[in-house]
Amino acid sequence: MTVPERPASAVQWARVFIRPALGNGGTAVDATAGNGQDTVFLAEGVGPEGRVYSLDIQEEALSKTRLLVSGRGLSERVKTILGGHQLLDRLVVAPVDAVMFNLGYLPGGSRAVVTAPDTTAAGIKAALSIIRPGGRISIVVYTGHPGAVEESSAVGDLLSGLEEREFSVQRMVFWNSRKKSPEIYFVTRAGDKK
Ligand SMILES: C[S@@+](CC[C@H](N)C(=O)[O-])C[C@H]1O[C@@H](n2cnc3c(N)ncnc32)[C@H](O)[C@@H]1O
Repeated sequence: MTVPERPASAVQWARVFIRPALGNGGTAVDATAGNGQDTVFLAEGVGPEGRVYSLDIQEEALSKTRLLVSGRGLSERVKTILGGHQLLDRLVVAPVDAVMFNLGYLPGGSRAVVTAPDTTAAGIKAALSIIRPGGRISIVVYTGHPGAVEESSAVGDLLSGLEEREFSVQRMVFWNSRKKSPEIYFVTRAGDKK
C-alpha cells in the first residue's frame, strides 16, 4: 500500500504525512484497526523487523484486519489487540514512531459502535505520551454522523492546547467540498529520533 502521488481522500493524506516517520525496524500503532487498511500501510512501512500494534474494540474489526494482514504476508509484524485506544499507553511498548487514528464507525459494520469524544481524547493523550521525539500522529475526524460535532470539538480543543515547543499541529479540511468535510490533524513531536 504505497503513498499515493496525488492523495484524494483524508485517509490518503494521513498516510502521506505518516510515511516519513516509518522506517525499517520501527514501531507504529493503528489506534482504530477497522478493516485493517491502515494496519497494512503501517506494517509495510516498518519492514520485516518492525512492529505494528493494531487496536480495536470490536473483534469483527480485528478478524478483518488479521485476514487482510495475513493475505499480504505481514502477520509476523502485526499484533492485534482487543482494547480501547484510551488504554494505549498500557497496551503497547513505548516509544512509538507513529500513531494513526481514523475515527468513526467500522465501514460495513454496525453504526452503533463508534468512536466517542471522551475515549478519543483519552486515546490521543495516551498517544502523545508514547510518541518518540520526531514521531507523528494523524487523526482523521469525520463530521457527518451523530456525535461527530462533539468529537470534533473534543479533538480540536485538546490539540489547540498543546505546548507549541513540544508539538506542532496542523489541521486540514476539504475546503470546497459539497459534503461535510472530514478534518485531518497532523501532529509532530519536536526533536529527533534518539
Ligand atoms: C473508521 S474505522 C477505522 C478504519 C481503519 N483504520 C481502516 O483502515 O480500515 C473506526 C474503528 O474504530 C473502532 N473504535 C471505536 N472506538 C474505539 C476505541 N475506543 N478504541 C479503539 N477502536 C475503537 C471501531 O470499532 C471501528 O472499527
